[in-house]
Amino acid sequence: MFSARPFLAFAALTTSALAATYSQVDSYVGSQFLSGFQHMAIADPTDGRVNYVDQATALQKNLTFTSDSTLIIRADDTTVLDASGPGRDSVRLMSNNVYENHVTVWNIRHMPQGCGTWPAVWEFGQDWPNQGEIDILEGVNDQGTDQATLHTTAGCTVTGAQQTGSAVGTDCDVYTTGNSGCSTLSSQATSYGPTFNANGGGFYAMERSNSGVKVWFWPRGSAIPSDVANGATSVDTDNWGTPFADFPSTTCDMASHFGPHNLVINLTFCGDWAGIASIFNGDGCPGDCATYVNQNPGAFTNAYFDVAWLKIYE
Ligand SMILES: *[C@@H]1O[C@H](CO)[C@@H](O)[C@H](O)[C@H]1NC(C)=O
Ligand SMILES: *[C@@H]1O[C@H](CO)[C@@H](O)[C@H](O)[C@H]1NC(C)=O
Repeated sequence: MFSARPFLAFAALTTSALAATYSQVDSYVGSQFLSGFQHMAIADPTDGRVNYVDQATALQKNLTFTSDSTLIIRADDTTVLDASGPGRDSVRLMSNNVYENHVTVWNIRHMPQGCGTWPAVWEFGQDWPNQGEIDILEGVNDQGTDQATLHTTAGCTVTGAQQTGSAVGTDCDVYTTGNSGCSTLSSQATSYGPTFNANGGGFYAMERSNSGVKVWFWPRGSAIPSDVANGATSVDTDNWGTPFADFPSTTCDMASHFGPHNLVINLTFCGDWAGIASIFNGDGCPGDCATYVNQNPGAFTNAYFDVAWLKIYE
C-alpha cells in the first residue's frame, strides 16, 4: 500500500509531461460575459435579417440576461417588423481577449431554434480571412446536425482527418469555395437544434494547436470526460477520444493561416445561408425567409442561447 503512492505520483507526472495538457486562462460565467465580451451592434456581413443591439439596449430589452449561473442571449420575439425597416433585434457577443493556440469548452444548455435562425459559436481573426475562422457550433433552420468549419486563405486543405463526422469539403479557402470553407458534419443527432435542446444541450470543445484543429461534442448525460464536465483548471485533450471534426495541419500550415482569434457567439436570421430560398423552403420553412422573420415574432420564442459557462485553456 505504502509504495503505491510514490509510484502513482511518478506515473502521473510522466504522463502529464507527454500529454496535451492545457491550463485554464479565462473563465466566464453569468455577468462575467458582460465585462469579458462586447455586444457588437454592427451590420451582419452575411446579409442577415438582423439588427444587432448594443449592451445597454440588450439588457434593457432583456435580450441579454445574466444570473450567477446563466448567460441568456436571445432575439426579440414580440415585434412585427416593417419590411423596409431594420431586421429582428438580436445579440452578437465578441470576446475582448484574443487567443492563438488554445482550447475552449462551452457548456451550453439551449441554442436558438426556429425557421430562419442561423446561430453560431465561432472565432476569427480581425484580419479576415488571413487570420482564419473556426466555426464550432453552426447550422440553419433547425436542420440536421452540427457543422464545424474552417475558413482560410488559399493553401489550407484537409488530409487524413481522424474523425467520427463526415467531411463536407476539404478545401478551406474562402475564395475558391464561395466562402463555404471546409466542414465536417457531426453524426450525433443531439448536436444541434431542437434535438440538442430537448436533451438539455451539452459540451462543445475545440482544440487549436500547431497540429491542427479538433472539435468534440458530448450531449448532456453522456460519458463526458471529467475535466470537461467539471470545467477543471487544467484539461488533457489526449483523453477526450476521437473528435467529431478533425482538421490536421498535414496540408494546412497553422501559423500562416491562423492568427489571434476573438471568440464570438451570435444569432442572425436568413442571410447568405439560412435565407437562400431553396435552402429555407427545402428545410420545410414557409414562403420567403425575410417575410417570415418580419411577420412571425412568436416563432422566435425559442431563439435563444443559454450558456452555463465558457472556459479557455492555453
Ligand atoms: C453571425 O453568425 C453567422 C453564422 O456564423 C455569420 O455568418 C455572421 O457573419 C455572423 N454575423 C456577424 C455580424 O458576425
Ligand atoms: C428576463 O429573462 C430571464 C431569462 O429568460 C427571465 O427569467 C426574466 O424573468 C426576464 N425578466 C423580465 C423582466 O422579463
